[in-house]
Amino acid sequence: MKWWQTTTIYQIYPRSFLDTNDDGIGDLPGIIAKLDYIKDLGFETIWISPFYKSPGKDFHYDISDYTQIDPIFGMLDDAERLIREIHKRKMRIVFDMVLNHTSDEHPWFKESRSSKDNPKRDWYIWRKGKSKDALPNNWISMINRPGWNYDEKTDEWYFANFLDFQPDLNYRNPEVKEAMFAIMRYWLDKGVDGFRLDIFNSIYKDAEFRDNPFSLRFIPTPDSQDEAFFQKKIHTLNHPDCFELAKEVHSLLDEYSSERFLLGEVSGNDVILKKFLGEKHDGLHLVFQFELIHFQFSANFFRDLLSKNEAIYPYPYTPTYVYGNHDQMRYIDKIDRDPNKAKLLALFQFTARGIPVVYYGEEIGMQDSDIPNWQGKDPIAQQNAFFPTPLANLLGVYMNRDNCRTPMQWNSSINAGFTTPATKPWLTVNNYYPQINVEYELSDKDSLLNTYKALLKFRNGNSTFQSGSLFVETNYKDYSDLLVYRRYSAEKSFLVFINFSDKDLDIKVNHVKQIALTVGETKLNANSSLELAAYSGIVLEI
Ligand code: GLC
Ligand code: CA
Repeated sequence: MKWWQTTTIYQIYPRSFLDTNDDGIGDLPGIIAKLDYIKDLGFETIWISPFYKSPGKDFHYDISDYTQIDPIFGMLDDAERLIREIHKRKMRIVFDMVLNHTSDEHPWFKESRSSKDNPKRDWYIWRKGKSKDALPNNWISMINRPGWNYDEKTDEWYFANFLDFQPDLNYRNPEVKEAMFAIMRYWLDKGVDGFRLDIFNSIYKDAEFRDNPFSLRFIPTPDSQDEAFFQKKIHTLNHPDCFELAKEVHSLLDEYSSERFLLGEVSGNDVILKKFLGEKHDGLHLVFQFELIHFQFSANFFRDLLSKNEAIYPYPYTPTYVYGNHDQMRYIDKIDRDPNKAKLLALFQFTARGIPVVYYGEEIGMQDSDIPNWQGKDPIAQQNAFFPTPLANLLGVYMNRDNCRTPMQWNSSINAGFTTPATKPWLTVNNYYPQINVEYELSDKDSLLNTYKALLKFRNGNSTFQSGSLFVETNYKDYSDLLVYRRYSAEKSFLVFINFSDKDLDIKVNHVKQIALTVGETKLNANSSLELAAYSGIVLEI
């Protein structure tokens, strides 16, 4: 088995982790200073959102130089030190790679837009309008705005599948592909273990620029953007050439070693996700599966998800389990901010077969802030400044991503130890930092943080949970709020019980060897009856 099939991933949003030079923005030396914290928690792999040179309009997902570090984060030397320090701790480092688009301030785009005969003109996607004032075709962007942007100078339109200042590169031009591959090589040469690939399913568009077909769907489904606003985005998302590109990038990594890996941000149904993974496992090594972003707190939901993943992604496929990231509401806000429920979700995430991806702060139960759109720094919030939040919630769209990006809460001092008390952090620290912070939770043995630690320790010490098989038990049908699954390997066999209900349960169990782990109040009686209090869970070795 490869290391990435058994790893655990911690995501850092670098602006918000730790500020070491009192400018209110997190930085690379800040991450280095906290590596031991992540190591002690028990994570192996760290994925860091982009910190390359960028005007920062989409907070560094708009890159103007891929081989330089943005000075607000540090210097190239800091990035190299970061890689070394992570490897020194026997951990892995994954950089974020934005292949789809650059910033409109990237020198390539500046050249490209300067004239129709500039050699870089074709590096981006330029088209004439159908007539004066008319867009080249009906393509809307992933965020459901017109994807075409008019450029007066040359009287043409450029395509951007995200925000207008993020022009899409034209991968049908071989020079572009070569240039972006060179950038990946640059970082691979410096030792990064892999890349998280930003909106990888957007990279290729229809070569003939055909209109997207009509769809009856207006509101997108929660886990995919590929049908919305009366459009099936077949010509702008998940184009078959994207699946081929996945294989090309895979081979590029293999030139280094078969130990480097790719984690793709793609969306779509399982048929599409599997195409990205490749029929011969020769595409992206892992893709984010976003079902847990829209979880329901019920045994049924998790049972169905596990059954589906075991059926569609049997070994050597490796599912990923993700509750949140820098684009989504924090998961604890979806469960009444109840740490006991959060512990159960963590129990699931670390004991299911697959790769847990944890967004910084989830381990302490950090909550979303409630910064209104009009005060948002996030460009998506700014574009929707006066969109009513209740309506957005109803539609299931998350508009002010500042709310999930507030500074990490390290302790109970002013600014939560993220920066000095006298400094103004780039986003205000969440109000609840006096109770929800690392220092406090480390001292409380029943805290959410200590539960994460215990779960990671348990998983790291148990190869059955890292690489064993999973079977969803059906013998407990009478308990509709109880989720039970088996993890087993040649050596060992375990049953995981999770009580999603607010009621105590009394369950018959047989052949128990020992209690391996508990979350919440549980009791195993001598007569093989298992008592599970409301919102508790247990792992039994059998
Ligand atoms: C991805 C990133 C998001 C970013 C967008 C454009 O969805 O996760 O934060 O704004 O791509 O790069
Ligand atoms: Ca700083």
